Amino acid sequence: MSRSTFKSRFVLFAFATVTVFLALYGLHTFKETVRSLLAGRMAGNTQDNTFLLIQLILWAVVAYLAVRAVRVLLFELVFRLRRGYEAPTLVKNIFSIVAFTILFVVIFNRLYPGVNLGALFTTSAIFGVILGLALQDTLGNFFAGISLHADRPFQVGDVIAVGAQKHTGVVESISWRAIKIRTFQNHIVLISNSSAAKEAIEVCPRNNLNARLVYFNTLYSDSPAKAIHIVRESVREAENVSDKITPIVRIRNLGESGIEYEVKYWLDDYARYNDTDALVRQRIWYAFRRARLTFNFPTRTVELERKSRHSVMESDQGALIERLSAVDIFAPLSGEETATLAQASVRHVFAPSETVIRAGDAGSSMFVVHHGRVQVQLTENGQSRAVAVLNDGDFFGEMALLTGEPRTANVVAVEETEVLEIGHEAMKKLFDTNPDLVESLSHIISERRKGLADHAEGPDVADESDGILASIKRFFRL
Ligand code: CMP
Repeated sequence: MSRSTFKSRFVLFAFATVTVFLALYGLHTFKETVRSLLAGRMAGNTQDNTFLLIQLILWAVVAYLAVRAVRVLLFELVFRLRRGYEAPTLVKNIFSIVAFTILFVVIFNRLYPGVNLGALFTTSAIFGVILGLALQDTLGNFFAGISLHADRPFQVGDVIAVGAQKHTGVVESISWRAIKIRTFQNHIVLISNSSAAKEAIEVCPRNNLNARLVYFNTLYSDSPAKAIHIVRESVREAENVSDKITPIVRIRNLGESGIEYEVKYWLDDYARYNDTDALVRQRIWYAFRRARLTFNFPTRTVELERKSRHSVMESDQGALIERLSAVDIFAPLSGEETATLAQASVRHVFAPSETVIRAGDAGSSMFVVHHGRVQVQLTENGQSRAVAVLNDGDFFGEMALLTGEPRTANVVAVEETEVLEIGHEAMKKLFDTNPDLVESLSHIISERRKGLADHAEGPDVADESDGILASIKRFFRL
């Protein structure tokens, strides 16, 4: 309950209490006046009964107010402070009903000492039948609610799916009448306790690692080992996929037109499974693209596709040559050398926030940003710090490739990014014919190492380009 609600309820409560006590005081002080007033209008002992009834109503209101006050004190303050969470509504309601009934019986016996309240209820068969029929559903819900609270099969915050209609959503409250869930379309669904008690309920507890399954497929020509590896690696990196259990990728069927797989992963926050499933499918698509794997959709116009593929490849090659010749370190290369380099380079697409290079890994290739943007990051005490942002035409990954040392930083795609990967062999060929290239690269590496040292707040690094040059030459046997 918010502070302002609490305040306004308190004012209302104080007002009601003062009013009812004033009414009781007035009734007692001006007892005779009220009686004679009633006597003027009513015959016989009707006036006495009316007087008693007014008293009964006023005292019942006092009892109600007292129960409310004790309920707030007991549950909103004491219980919450001790246990740290709110008491279930059902428990609070049971307390109120029982406490009020006891007080009401006490008041009734005082005002009507000769009347047996219990007998009044039990001897009236018609009253019993009417009450029974009227309360059939209510009592059903009430007792089902009690058993739900006793069993505690789920709690507020859990995701549940109820019945054949599969009402799925996050539990918002469990009252004496119904379970309230918020669906993933942000609708509220109320399921009465008695109908929930008859249905099968699937529970995904909040503090439990709940799993999801997503399906995909490949052509028969694609290697299952490769598909399983690349999908597992890309899914485990997706946001909200728990790192406590490694995702499982397995073949579920050898289908008509391809191999069918399922990937099973566990979620940190199950309530966000729709977004995570979508992200996982997206990651699979990107991983497939990079690993040259193909989904097994039927291809009808094989000839047409081959033709168009050929022309696409030619225009692609032109774009690669254009990109590489715009990279400053490759500017001195001849047209033929650039074309050979373009042919040797491999294109990869990365999704936003996917890691292209991980610090500490071994690396035998460098990358040129074809389209997009990447960020070079250092991780310290679990916190990432940006060192540089590289755009179209910039390159990275040259340090490990040229020196043979582990990767010095993480490189992460900021947006969807296409990179060209250039391997050890292709670079060696270039060095044999362009010895100056080694020198310009050693200067760049030296500058970047200084940049890394500045961001790591370590001691300043001197210009080591001569040492780097020597180690590149040694590593490439130049
Ligand atoms: P490598 O060590 O192979 O892998 C991480 C890459 O991040 C590294 O090569 C460089 O290409 C790049 N990198 C490291 N430091 C910097 C920097 N200061 N500025 C730009 N790029 C950097």
